[in-house]
Order: sequence, then C-alpha cells, then structure tokens
Amino acid sequence: MSSRLFSTKSMGDLMSQASDTTHGFKRTLTATNLTTLGIGAIIGAGIFVLTGQAAAQYAGPAIVISFIISGLACAFAGLCYAEFASMIPIAGSAYTYAYATLGEFLAWIIGWDLILEYLFAASTVSVGWGGYVISFLNDFGIHIPTAFTAASGSVLVQLPEVGWQEVTKNLITNLTAKGIDINTLPHVTAVLNLPAMFIVAVLTLLLVIGIKESANFNNIMVITKVSVIIMFIGLGIAFIKAGNWHPFIPKNTGTWGQFGWSGVLRGAGVIFFAYIGFDAVSTAAQEAKNPQKHMPIGILGSLSISTVLYILVALVLTGIVSYTTLNVADPVAVGVNAMGPGMFWLRPIVKIAAIAGLSSVILVLLMGQPRIFYSMSRDGLLPPVFSKVHPKFKTPYISSLLTGFVAIILAGILPISILGELVSIGTLLAFVIVCLSIILLRKKRPELERPFRTPFVPLIPILGAVICFVQMASLPFETWLRLLIWMALGFIIYFTYGIRHSMLRKTGPTSK
Ligand code: ALA
Repeated sequence: MSSRLFSTKSMGDLMSQASDTTHGFKRTLTATNLTTLGIGAIIGAGIFVLTGQAAAQYAGPAIVISFIISGLACAFAGLCYAEFASMIPIAGSAYTYAYATLGEFLAWIIGWDLILEYLFAASTVSVGWGGYVISFLNDFGIHIPTAFTAASGSVLVQLPEVGWQEVTKNLITNLTAKGIDINTLPHVTAVLNLPAMFIVAVLTLLLVIGIKESANFNNIMVITKVSVIIMFIGLGIAFIKAGNWHPFIPKNTGTWGQFGWSGVLRGAGVIFFAYIGFDAVSTAAQEAKNPQKHMPIGILGSLSISTVLYILVALVLTGIVSYTTLNVADPVAVGVNAMGPGMFWLRPIVKIAAIAGLSSVILVLLMGQPRIFYSMSRDGLLPPVFSKVHPKFKTPYISSLLTGFVAIILAGILPISILGELVSIGTLLAFVIVCLSIILLRKKRPELERPFRTPFVPLIPILGAVICFVQMASLPFETWLRLLIWMALGFIIYFTYGIRHSMLRKTGPTSK
C-alpha cells in the first residue's frame, strides 16, 4: 500500500500528456502574454489594500523591508517553479511537479491544498474588489444597501463622517476610548456580499468563453493598473517629505509584531499575499506556444516587475503621508489626497486602476483552478467530468463553472480575514513542497533535460522552504486548524475516491 501511495508518474507520460493536443487546449500564449498573466495575478489587493494597513499596524515605513524579505522567499520559490515549469510544461502546477517527484498521495495533498491558493484567493480578492467598487460608487452618490455589501452575519455600524464599518474588537475599543457607545449608532447585520459575488459570476462566464479572449481582457487590465501605479510613483516622488521616513523602523511597542524588527517580520507575513499569483503562470503551460522557453520568462519576469513596483509604491506612499494614517480600505487614495487638492483628479483614476487590477487577479486565479482540476481528473483522482473540454470554446467549462459557483458562495458569505489567511497558509505550504521537490528530483532524476535550472541547488530551494515555513509559523493557530480540517477533508476524498480511480493504478507506475 505505502509503495503505491508513493508511486510517481513517469516523465514520458507527462511529456506525452503535454504534447497531446487532441483533448487539450489551444496553444496561443506568448512570453509577453505569460508575463502579463503573471502580473495580472500578482498585483492586486496586496498592494492596493494591505500595504497601507500593514505599514500602519506593524512595520511603519520599514514595510519596504518586509516587501524585500517576502519578495526573496517568492524569488527563491519562483526559481524552483521556473525549473519545474520548463521541465514539465503541462497544466497542473505544483500538483503535477509533486506527482513526478513525491508520488500520488502527496500530489493529491498539494492539489487539494492549491484549491486554497486559487479558488479561495479568487473569493478573497473579490471581497476586496467589492470594497473598492462600493467606495467608487459612493463618490458618485450611488449607494448599495449595506446589508448586501459584507459577509453573512457580520455587523456593520455607521460612523459619523466615516461611513459604514465592520464591527471589530479594535473598533469597539477605539470608540469606547473616545467615549462613544457603539450601541447608539445605526447598525445593520449583513446578509450577503453581492458585489463580490457579482464579479466572480461575470469573470467565470468570460473564462468559459475562451482563453484567448480572457488573455486579451487580462492585458487591458494589466496595462491599466501598471500605468496608474507608475503614474502614482512618478507624480508622488515630488511630494515625498523625508520626515515621514523617520524613524524608518518605528520602535517596538512592547508587543511582538507591533513595529521594530518583529513588526517588519509580521509585515512580511501579511504582505506575502501581495506576491501570490506568479505561479499561476505555470497553470497555463499547455496553452503556451513555447512553454520550455517561455514559462521561466513568464514566472520570473512577472515576479521581478511586481517586486520593483511594490518597493517603489511602499517607499513613495510612506514618504508622502505618515504611515499612521494608512489603516484604511484605500491607502493609495489617501496618499493621493495628501498630494493636495491640485492632485484630486488622480483619485478616481487610482480607484479605477484598483478595480481593474483586482479584476485581473480574480480572473487569473479563476482560470488557474479549473486547469489544476483538469490535471487531477485526467489522472483519475477527480471524476472525469472535471476534464471535459468544451468542443467549441476549448475550455474546461464544467470545472470552470463549478469553481465559479463555489467561489461565488465563499465570496458572498465569508469575511476577507478568514479567507486571506487560509490562502496564505495554503500557498506557503505549496511553495515549501515545490522547493523541496527540486532538491529531490535533482537527486532522483539528474539526467532529465532542464531547459531552466534553479541556481545554487540545494541552497536556494532550502532558503526558499525555510523562509516560507517561518512565514507559515507566524500565522495564527486558528488558521493552522482550518488548514488541518481542510486537509483532513482531502484525505477522506482521496481514500474514498482517488485511490480507487487513479489512472496510475490502472496502468501501473511507469516511473524510473
Ligand atoms: N497577489 C494577489 C493580490 O495581491 C493575490 O491580490
């Protein structure tokens, strides 16, 4: 039994699956398409929402250092992903890599774990999208009923001059300190988050229609968000007051994680979310024109461009305003406000860019998930319906619709905090396994052709795995518990379905 659990898939099988175009997708994506796909998945809620919040609560201007730490972990993991993606250029991402190296059971574990990174992240970012859309519409006097703008059961309270805010322990403490009794303020219990559900529904339909059309939509969104971010950096430089950077690392308050170096580390854990998505490039391998050459360009190119933009935005933002004012839903807009009335024209543009940016993140995540399901289903670990490709659109339409349906429900009923932390822990786990697999495969199959090689193996993969694990360890206990429950569910499905239907069992392990 145990040897069966750890039987791996042969490279020959993987490669013939990669070149099989009869059931497969259209090969239309170029290196530029793949890079924009990566940027599309990366730049989103992390930079537009979390940077300001993490600077205000944990790291101050040193959030720039947090970005460098987290960026390093992603760069190391990215180099490992690039080697795998050039070597095994088929849809399925870390799932497929694990199947080739660690065996079926661990591959299933990763595939199941990746649902957290893709499907759950799509829901997380759509909640952020909803927030920006509501704020944008409010500027034009259009108000969506509050009960339909947040997670089911969450309580919102209307604050004078600020508007509707979700009731949290922090908010109650702050109001009490100001002598305000929260019970005297108007409040509403939310039913569903309709804007978040809406965007998932629209993008799911777009994805069913086709990858080429989706890639074009993604290109437009990416150009919009990157142009506005560059505009913000370029215009913002003139408004930097060096005093805002002093002290660069604010003194620790006495509590772990609140400023000082521990705050920088916690900041890194929080803004890790901003980097998630570069590996989504690897899920489109079967739609790439020349995957061996172009996958590493797509993964590392999108990661590098995003890292540079993040560091510059963080520097400019914390230079324009005091980090203490950035704990809001739209920190970049607060930065624009601080540039003075002459720059107010930039505000709606920044919001539109955020909405566009978040849309492309959701799109790429929703695109990645069905492609992972596709691979798992072709391997027999999920029912065949997950690998059905539409005869005309050539997209995995049933799994796209199913992914969309579940993501809609999650986006409608869950708060961004629970969703976001689960996404981070799940993604970090996948990165750890990918890094370790590189070392294993170099030992097990040194002869394999590697169009791209991770440099300094085993140092880089080990560093990648360690930094990612440290970031996992910094997440709260409840998040670990949710991860364990999710994984337990995965075990049950594998042992009741996957193990009986695995193609590897039917044809026998062919590796070596
Ligand atoms: N990196 C993506 C974002 O920041 C998930 O929205």
